[in-house]
Amino acid sequence: MTEDHVQDSTRYELVTLANGTRSIRDLESGETFHPVIGPAAEAEALYVRQLRLPQRFRAGSGDFVLWDVGLGAGANVLTALRSLNRIPGRLHILSFDQTLEPFRFAVRHADELGYLGELRDLAAIIASGKGCHAFSLGPLSVTWETRLGDFPTLLQRQLPSLPAPHAVMYDAYSPMRNPDMWTLPLFERIHAGLDPRRPCALPTYSRSTILRVTLLLAGFFVGVGHATGEKEETTIAANTLDLIDEPLDRRWLDRALRSHSAEPMFKPKWQVSPLSLQSRDRLRRHPQFVAG
Ligand SMILES: C[S@@+](CC[C@H](N)C(=O)[O-])C[C@H]1O[C@@H](n2cnc3c(N)ncnc32)[C@H](O)[C@@H]1O
Repeated sequence: MTEDHVQDSTRYELVTLANGTRSIRDLESGETFHPVIGPAAEAEALYVRQLRLPQRFRAGSGDFVLWDVGLGAGANVLTALRSLNRIPGRLHILSFDQTLEPFRFAVRHADELGYLGELRDLAAIIASGKGCHAFSLGPLSVTWETRLGDFPTLLQRQLPSLPAPHAVMYDAYSPMRNPDMWTLPLFERIHAGLDPRRPCALPTYSRSTILRVTLLLAGFFVGVGHATGEKEETTIAANTLDLIDEPLDRRWLDRALRSHSAEPMFKPKWQVSPLSLQSRDRLRRHPQFVAG
């Protein structure tokens, strides 16, 4: 990242990445959104392509439900929307965040950021914070809801009323800075919100053993995710192996069992430790590793 930055908010600033694209940095957490290859390219590689979004949307019937966890500056959700806007069908987006500030910041800097493009006016309406919007983009009918508040608390209170997702774009800050978004109880709750008859995948940018163990113990199947730029691996979780190209195998399990950094966080406090006896036992008995 260069030192070229623009700031018109006390919390967010524009930064220029090494490849020349612009992104946003949150000064409070110290984290840059999509820091490696930039907002649109990362959203495309990590979420749109990996979720096979257009193919699955085209093949479905009824509402396709997309959870956008960590709306942030909207790069993931707008890139997903753009990938679907020539396909007839109904899309229901639920965007979760504790604040609309980065999205408003992105709308103010739409020219520099580039990825808002023709969806800039729509983004401005969503960023105004009215909660639920229904509109059409060509043949695509969209309902886009924003659910504001602390995501773990919101899930605890609203899970029964939330439509089960077909796809989840999971994009919180890093586990070290944002441990509340990466605990085992939270992923267990997300898993409980899925419909076992509705295939659902959840990619995310981390490839850490702690995250993968957390997802497995929460009940997901877990695989190696696509590379995004310099990150040679990410992670994809799903409630069916059919949505995972490269499931974690027994060699990965052996490494996890030996790792010094594998135990999930049970509470929102960053910690690094080897697997407990109970977690080892549960992991060994996970259907993904039990010979079929
Ligand atoms: C890396 S940014 C998301 C970037 C975004 N997906 C995009 O495409 O621009 C992470 C987001 O997670 C949100 N977040 C962090 N902790 C949260 C929490 N406990 N509840 C809800 N949102 C949270 C932050 O406010 C921030 O906007």
